[in-house]
Amino acid sequence: MAVRIVIGAQWGDEGKGKVVDLLSADSDYVVRYQGGANAGHTLKFDDTTIVLHLIPSGMFNGNSKCVIGNGVVIDPIALVEELEEVEALGVDLKNRLFISSSAHLILPYHKVLDNVKEKSRGSDAIGTTGRGIGPAYVSKVSRIGIRLIDLMDRERLEEKIRKNLNDINIALENVYNEDPINAEKMIEDLEASVETIKPYICNTTELLHKALQNNEAILLEGAQGSLLDVDHGTYPYVTSSSPTAGGACTGSGIPPLAITNAMGITKAYCTRVGNGPFPTELNDESGEKLRKNGQEFGATTGRPRRCGWLDLVALNYAIRLNGMNELTLTKLDVLDDFETIKVCTHYELNGEKTDVFPADCDELDDVIPVYKTFTGWNTSTRNISTYENLPEKARVYIRFIEEFTGVPFKIVSTGPKRSETIVR
Ligand code: GDP
Ligand code: IMO
Ligand code: MG
Repeated sequence: MAVRIVIGAQWGDEGKGKVVDLLSADSDYVVRYQGGANAGHTLKFDDTTIVLHLIPSGMFNGNSKCVIGNGVVIDPIALVEELEEVEALGVDLKNRLFISSSAHLILPYHKVLDNVKEKSRGSDAIGTTGRGIGPAYVSKVSRIGIRLIDLMDRERLEEKIRKNLNDINIALENVYNEDPINAEKMIEDLEASVETIKPYICNTTELLHKALQNNEAILLEGAQGSLLDVDHGTYPYVTSSSPTAGGACTGSGIPPLAITNAMGITKAYCTRVGNGPFPTELNDESGEKLRKNGQEFGATTGRPRRCGWLDLVALNYAIRLNGMNELTLTKLDVLDDFETIKVCTHYELNGEKTDVFPADCDELDDVIPVYKTFTGWNTSTRNISTYENLPEKARVYIRFIEEFTGVPFKIVSTGPKRSETIVR
């Protein structure tokens, strides 16, 4: 049975939610393995639109069990809001949702720290989502994190929170000139959500190992994207986890040799939210048109997304990093009314042609993208669900990318709805 990772091939928001929702119909398990409520995964089916931040995108298409793995950082208050939203759509979460006891909590102090640190960075700010992600992973790695298992023992939980707050309040007051956080109030505010979450907490590693033994189909849902990976992305303008394939293993407990497929999701162009280098960014009418056609506004923060042409140097890098053996192309329809469409095939750096994605952010800032230009198809592809019905010029565009990368598009998406999809 397939154990497939679905990974963003760009800087996030590639349409992972739509693809995971689609593929979950044939999956026994759907597992989120990293990130937190910085993610915003949009699902559209029938007349429903829902944006998921923590709950895997496998709740609505079939009966797959959904797992929030150990690698995810969980804001209990955000999670409970989302549980309620999903339940309001008629989903019974009992026996459908399983949350790792080893996953770490995002507590209110992480969010405060995220925001004050961003403020203090001034013009060097990363442009985080403000959801406390970085500070929560700092707590985890520095071994003062509080895990979901700790919610089971009230006394231990309170003790850990108080201990952590001692240090944090010193920093808040003396370094950042902020008010200290009151431990008692914080614990009280968390109480209701903690009680709601408790029944879902379990050993998800064990659960997934059993699923592997039983040869069940598993879908691992990445958040963010390869270029936001803390090790392999455009550091320091990255998130604080590993969205790439390796992160799927550490963040779920599924061993590398069990993985059968790594599917990369790429838009037919490129977007990025937050700061950092973006070689093919368009600060002109075409960029504006991509934003307008593609409704490129953050699903989590509402911020306008920066837009540009598809970057094949970056895509090939993501393919190599993750061992992607299949791709999905999303938002093809967004290019429907462009006279010409460009694709970056190489960079120029210091006057030399290169197809290497630089490891150094400053170098990436300096590259000049070299483009190949295609004639647009100038007709709507919305709703087309068979490959042969796509306009020939769109097929030329798709074929070029496949040949350039050497990886086939298994899925082509022609609209936000589940039904607006070509599966090949
Ligand atoms: P994710 O974070 O990767 O799950 O992606 P987001 O949900 O943040 O952003 C993708 C956006 O594009 C959402 O608003 C989707 O509804 C929308 N979308 C997904 N696929 C398509 C497509 O093929 N065409 C169009 N027009 N919109 C799409
Ligand atoms: P999905 O799963 C796009 C970006 C932020 C910022 C950087 C660090 O919906 O694709 P963080 O809050 O993680 O510390 O912010 O990462 N970022 C995303 N960009 N899509 C996302 O998630 C993102 N999650 C974080 O904008 O640049
Ligand atoms: Mg998103």
